[in-house]
Amino acid sequence: MKSFFVVVRNTIVKFFYKTVFKQIFFLMDPELVHSRAIKIGTILGASFLTRSFITLCFSYSNKILEREILKIKFLNPVGLAAGFDKNAQLTALWPSVGFGFAEVGSITGEACEGNPKPRLWRLKKSQSLVVNYGLKNEGSEKLSAKLRNIKFQIPIGTSIAKTNNKETVETEQGIADYVKAFKQFSDIGSYFSINISCPNVFGGLPFTDDSKLDKLLGKLDQISTGKPIFIKISPDLSLDQVDKIIDVVKRHRVDGFICSNLTKNRVNKKIIDNKIPEAGGISGRAVEDLANNLIGHIYRREKDRFVIIGCGGVFRAEDAYKKIKLGASLVQLITGMIYEGPQVISEINMGLVKLLKKDGFTNISQAVGSGVK
Ligand SMILES: Cc1cc2nc3c(=O)[nH]c(=O)nc-3n(C[C@H](O)[C@H](O)[C@H](O)COP(=O)(O)O)c2cc1C
Repeated sequence: MKSFFVVVRNTIVKFFYKTVFKQIFFLMDPELVHSRAIKIGTILGASFLTRSFITLCFSYSNKILEREILKIKFLNPVGLAAGFDKNAQLTALWPSVGFGFAEVGSITGEACEGNPKPRLWRLKKSQSLVVNYGLKNEGSEKLSAKLRNIKFQIPIGTSIAKTNNKETVETEQGIADYVKAFKQFSDIGSYFSINISCPNVFGGLPFTDDSKLDKLLGKLDQISTGKPIFIKISPDLSLDQVDKIIDVVKRHRVDGFICSNLTKNRVNKKIIDNKIPEAGGISGRAVEDLANNLIGHIYRREKDRFVIIGCGGVFRAEDAYKKIKLGASLVQLITGMIYEGPQVISEINMGLVKLLKKDGFTNISQAVGSGVK
C-alpha cells in the first residue's frame, strides 16, 4: 500500500514537473531559476506545516537502504552534491525532499562573489550543465556562525574549498585559506569534503599535485575534529595522478573520496549539443562514465580502505546502483534533480530497493563493490 501510494504520487509529481514546471524553468536563465529555487526552498523549509507537506509529496523510506558509515547513520544513500545549496539555506528542507544526506558549500575562507555572469548554462541534449560559478559563497565566518547551533535532521557535509581570488594562488596562502574554513567548521556538520577539484578558479587545481596536497593535508591533520574527511577529486585526472593522490592521502587523516567533480574536457562522446560555452566545468551525463571509472579504479585498488561517494550523472536508480556495485557506499546528485524533478530522489531510492532485492541483498551495504572482480 505504502509503495503503491509512492508510485502514484511520484507519477503525478513527475508529470507536473516535466510538462509544466520544467517547461517554464527551461525558458528562463538557469542562474535565475537556481536563485529563485533557493528563495522558495527557504520559505518552504521555515515552517513545520510546509515541511510536512513536502515530506508527503517526496519522502520514501525502506530499512534495506539504512546503514551506518564512519559512525554516521544514513537513512538512504542518495545525497545532494555540493554546489546547489552554496550558503546552506535549505538544510531544514532537504530531509523532507527525501535526501539521505546533503552537502553544503563549497565554502571558502573568505566570502566570494564568484565569476562574472553568465556562469550557468544547460546542455539539454547531453543532459548536462555547464557551471562557471567560481565558488560563489558567503564565506566561512558568516556561514559557520549561522550554522553553529542548528541541529540537523540528516547528515550534513561541509564542502571546503580555497577562496577564488589572486591572494590564494600561492601554496602557503591557499593552504591558510583552507585551514581557516576547516577550523571554523571543525564542529559543524557530519563530515568534511575537501574540494581540490573546482575547475573554475584562479590558479587552476594546485592541490591535485601530490606534494602540495601532502602539505595541505599535513596542516589539516593538526586541527582537531571528530568528523570524517573526504577528498573530492576531478574526473579529468589520469589514473596515474589518482594513484599518486591515493598514496599521499594514505599518510593522512582521510576517510574517503568523492568521485567526482565537474569535467573540463570537451572531448567527450556524451556531449552531443552543438554549442558549448568555453568557460566552466560540465556536470550530468557528460561526467558519468568518468566518475564511474574513478570509483571502480579506487575500489579495485583499495577495497574498503576508503569510503567512496559516487557523484556525476545519477538520473535513475540504475545509475546509482552502477556506482554502488563499482564500490560507492553513497551517491550524490544535482543535475538529475534539475532534469527529472525533485521526486527523482524517492524514485531512485525505490528503484534501488527493487534492484537490491532482485540481486538477493538484504541491505545496501552488501551491494557495495559487488560488481568489481
Ligand atoms: C550548479 C552547480 C554548482 C556546483 N558547485 C560546486 C561546488 O561549489 N563545489 C563542489 O565541490 N562541486 C560543485 N559542483 C559539482 C557537483 O557537486 C557534482 O560534483 C557534479 O555536478 C556532478 O554531479 P551531477 O552530475 O549529479 O550534477 C557544482 C555542480 C553544479 C551543477
